[in-house]
Amino acid sequence: MSTTLPMPKRTIHTQHTYSPWRVSVAPMMDWTDRHCRFFHRLLSQHTLLYTEMVTTGALTHGDVGRHLRFNAQEHPVALQLGGSTPDDLAVAAKLGQDWGYNEINLNCGCPSDRVQRGAFGACLMATPVLVADCVKAMVDVVDVPVTVKHRIGIDTEDSYEFVRDFVGTVANAGCEVFIVHARNAWLQGLSPKQNREVPPLRYELVAKLKQDFPNLTIAINGGITSGEHMHSQLQHVDGVMLGREAYYNPWLLTEWDHEFFGEAPTTLTREEVELAMVDYMEQAAAEDGCPWYAIARHMLGLRHGLRGSRYWRQVWSNHKLKPLPPREVWSMAQAFVGMQAPDQASSSLANVG
Ligand SMILES: Cc1cc2nc3c(=O)[nH]c(=O)nc-3n(C[C@H](O)[C@H](O)[C@H](O)COP(=O)(O)O)c2cc1C
Repeated sequence: MSTTLPMPKRTIHTQHTYSPWRVSVAPMMDWTDRHCRFFHRLLSQHTLLYTEMVTTGALTHGDVGRHLRFNAQEHPVALQLGGSTPDDLAVAAKLGQDWGYNEINLNCGCPSDRVQRGAFGACLMATPVLVADCVKAMVDVVDVPVTVKHRIGIDTEDSYEFVRDFVGTVANAGCEVFIVHARNAWLQGLSPKQNREVPPLRYELVAKLKQDFPNLTIAINGGITSGEHMHSQLQHVDGVMLGREAYYNPWLLTEWDHEFFGEAPTTLTREEVELAMVDYMEQAAAEDGCPWYAIARHMLGLRHGLRGSRYWRQVWSNHKLKPLPPREVWSMAQAFVGMQAPDQASSSLANVG
């Protein structure tokens, strides 16, 4: 049921034998949609990609195709679900499997008010038996792995025993993979953004989970921003998940197939990736009228740290260019690739608008 779009030709030499969870890009609401994942897949063939959270309500009462459709090239791709009713989660998990997702993940880490009102996300950590029931309901109806993403604690509950007992209880229901955001969620008084920054990171608790549950797959998440840091975490746990850094600095992904999966690195240049995205924008527009800027917004980090990147980015995010076809926007953006002098760039940019 996923759609196929052309991708630049590449050769995959061998299939690695590493855990699929060794390196992944985090689920991020409004960010890791299918367009973003298509872009990330151009940069890395083996990194596991997660969807944004999709609530069970959206699937039982909403447009299933809109929430679940994805491009065939995105594999391996995991569907993250938000919900707390075992029956609804079972239905949603089955739908996810039928649509072709490689994994179903349950969100037990989101602290937003909206999610708390729905009594799911991070507040589920207070009711491990309910999470176990949810996991069991899903495991009973799908063959793909059912995994859980969670925090190390909620509010002032910061003992190791709390997260250990959560993992133990949920593992007994059939979950073998835990992705742990290594900070507490504070359910009162902090915004979701602050909840990704303010509660301190405590990586050592996640390492201890791996020691205490050697048969489970434990992946770590939170504040990891470099290949060096990923390597050092992999000394202690089975996998690393990156969120914001992968989004803001996506070229990092091009190192991962080689560094972490022992596979050939991507041979595509930034320019080839950008052009492949232009092809994709044209296809998406032809398929369902998707505007190019809904796709281009995810690739604004492609030239992160390079000369002229600011001006290149300004072209791809310029509202005045929305009526133009993407290939024209692309050719305007090329004027700024490698540009050195900001004055020269700004005056050219004035002409763009
Ligand atoms: C914009 C945004 C949206 C997010 N949405 C979700 C989500 O839908 N589900 C989820 O489990 N985590 C979500 N997160 C949290 C990330 O998955 C991740 O746990 C968090 O950003 C910490 O990892 P990092 O420090 O590598 O970014 C979101 C994060 C961001 C920045």
